[in-house]
Amino acid sequence: MSAERTLILVKPDGVSRGLVGEVVGRLERKGLSLVALELRTLERSVAETHYGEHASKPFFGELVDFITSGPLVALVAEGPRAVEASRGLIGATDPVKAVPGSLRGDFATEIGQNLVHGSDSPESAKREIDLFFPGLS
Ligand code: TYD
Ligand code: MG
Repeated sequence: MSAERTLILVKPDGVSRGLVGEVVGRLERKGLSLVALELRTLERSVAETHYGEHASKPFFGELVDFITSGPLVALVAEGPRAVEASRGLIGATDPVKAVPGSLRGDFATEIGQNLVHGSDSPESAKREIDLFFPGLS
C-alpha cells in the first residue's frame, strides 16, 4: 500500500458550526489516517501563501478575509491516493453543485463558505503540508 499525504482544512465556518467531527469522522471512516491535527487562526500572510494561485482572482480578498476570520482545523491525512480520496469526500467547489453525500453537498450552500479545503494534487499537498506543518514531510 502506497501512503500519500494531503492537507485538509476545516474552514472557519466548519469550526463555528460544530462540523469538525463530521469532517474528521468521514476521513477516518474512508480509511485515511491522521498524521497531524491543529486548531489555529491563520495570519494573513499564511493565508495569502496558501491561496497564492488565486492571487489575481476577484474573490481573493474575500477568500483571505474568510479563511483568517476565526479558528480553523488544519490536518494531514494519509492513505492510498489520499488526495483524490479526500477531494471525493469534499465534493465540488460550488456546494450547490456538489453531490449530496459529499461534505460540501451535504453541509454548504455558498462557494465562499464551502466548509473544507483539500489539496488538489500530490505536489500541492507537499507545498501545503510544508506551509502548515514544517518538517513533517
Ligand atoms: P479553488 O481552488 O478553485 O477550489 P477548491 O477549494 O475546490 O480547490 O478555490 C479556492 C477557494 O476559493 C474555494 O474553496 C472557494 C473560493 N472561491 C470563491 O470564493 N469563488 C469562486 O468563484 C471560486 C472558484 C473559489
Ligand atoms: Mg483549490
